[in-house]
Amino acid sequence: MLILGIETSCDETGVALYHPTDGLLADALFSQVDIHAQYGGVVPELASRDHIRKLIPLCREVLTRADKNLADLDGVAYTAGPGLMGALLVGASFARSLAWGLDIPAVGVHHMEAHLLAPLMEKEGDDAGPPLPFIALLVSGGHTQLVEVHGIGDYSLLGESLDDAAGEAFDKAAKMLDLGYPGGPLLARCAEKGDPTRFRFPRPMTDRPGLDFSFSGLKTFTLNTVKDHSPLTDQDRADIARAFEDAVIDTLSIKCLRAVEQTGVPHLVVAGGVSANRRLRERLSAELPETTYYAKPELCTDNGAMVAYAGYLRLQAGHREPLAIIARARWPMTELSPP
Ligand code: KG4
Ligand code: ZN
Repeated sequence: MLILGIETSCDETGVALYHPTDGLLADALFSQVDIHAQYGGVVPELASRDHIRKLIPLCREVLTRADKNLADLDGVAYTAGPGLMGALLVGASFARSLAWGLDIPAVGVHHMEAHLLAPLMEKEGDDAGPPLPFIALLVSGGHTQLVEVHGIGDYSLLGESLDDAAGEAFDKAAKMLDLGYPGGPLLARCAEKGDPTRFRFPRPMTDRPGLDFSFSGLKTFTLNTVKDHSPLTDQDRADIARAFEDAVIDTLSIKCLRAVEQTGVPHLVVAGGVSANRRLRERLSAELPETTYYAKPELCTDNGAMVAYAGYLRLQAGHREPLAIIARARWPMTELSPP
């Protein structure tokens, strides 16, 4: 079963080909970072227009690289939400129409389910990921959630951010430090030269029970520290970045351990853009050795491969989509059901 995966929920156009026995055959990504950088964030209309420009060339590219053609496809998977409506509609219309034209099934994938399943992406027969049930920490630019995963489409929400997502907090803190956009990886790099003992930032909501998060107070604390020390030297920037990163990692780690303890489920999957963070991975792997799983760093941030893989799992389990082109800007993961 050869699946074409299409991701257009935000500012990356991702296209990939996944095959259950041959694995990931080809994966192409165009990041719109340069288009949006001058605005300090994603401009939805510019994102949609660029997805239109890039989708067909990227599809041609993956087919050529895998030495396949359209007639070899057995299904098309696309991100149906959540995300920017215009951007989603570009991918959904293209993918649904292509599948209709080829008379093959299409499947609309939930973006966070695709992130969640990415660490399990293996060739059939390989040692495939954690046993069910497992806990998933989903940390991206739009979401911070702890979820108990009983099976595909069978999720219970254990906790989530009451305000900003962890990735969003990284991006905003990076902006305050004039590090550029997108901020997560830039802040992490800057923090490498920081002195971990100079500042101590709060670990929000860790002093009370529960598995929810809040990152907006940490953002204000960062802003106040920046103001108190302005104009900033490069060392000030690195020290603040380090204190911020330590606070986020500590907070995420405390809540993951609490989730494991509370549920008695030992296996933890960490997914979404922030799971590319090297120090977060090191910390969680040290806390839960042998039972923590991640995607490859390049598959943590948005990509077509995770959509192709999630689509494959749903299609082979019998999921069939109607002909309608469906996209949802908002779509709680708990509304999903098993295929
Ligand atoms: O999953 P993703 O690519 O897109 C969404 O679904 O939102 O996540 C993007 C987020 C951004 O906020 C970005 O700053 C953050 O992931 N991110 C990182 C790192 N790489 C990406 N945050 C911290 N450290 C990183 N290395
Ligand atoms: Zn994402």
